[in-house]
Amino acid sequence: MDKPKIAATEPKAVELEEGKKYAFCTCGLSDTQPFCNGAHKGTDFVPHVFTAEETKTAYLCQCKQTNNTPFCDGSHSQIGKPKIG
Ligand code: FES
Repeated sequence: MDKPKIAATEPKAVELEEGKKYAFCTCGLSDTQPFCNGAHKGTDFVPHVFTAEETKTAYLCQCKQTNNTPFCDGSHSQIGKPKIG
C-alpha cells in the first residue's frame, strides 16, 4: 500500500478541544475516521499526531489528499478529475 485509501470524498466535522492531542489517520483504513484506530499496522503509514490550538469545530480530511494535514483543503473536489499541466 503506497497510497492512502480514500475514506470519504468529503471532510468530517469534529469538535476539537484546545490543548488536546489527536491522532489523525493518514492511511484511510481506520473505521473511526478521521482518527487513527491502529488499522495502519503492517503499512508504511503512521498517524499524524497534533494538538488542537483552540476549541472549535474543524473539518478534517477524509480523502487523505490534503496538503494541509489534518485539515480539509478542498482537494477532494479534484478526485477523479484529470490533472491539468
Ligand atoms: S489507522 Fe490510519 S493512520 Fe492509523
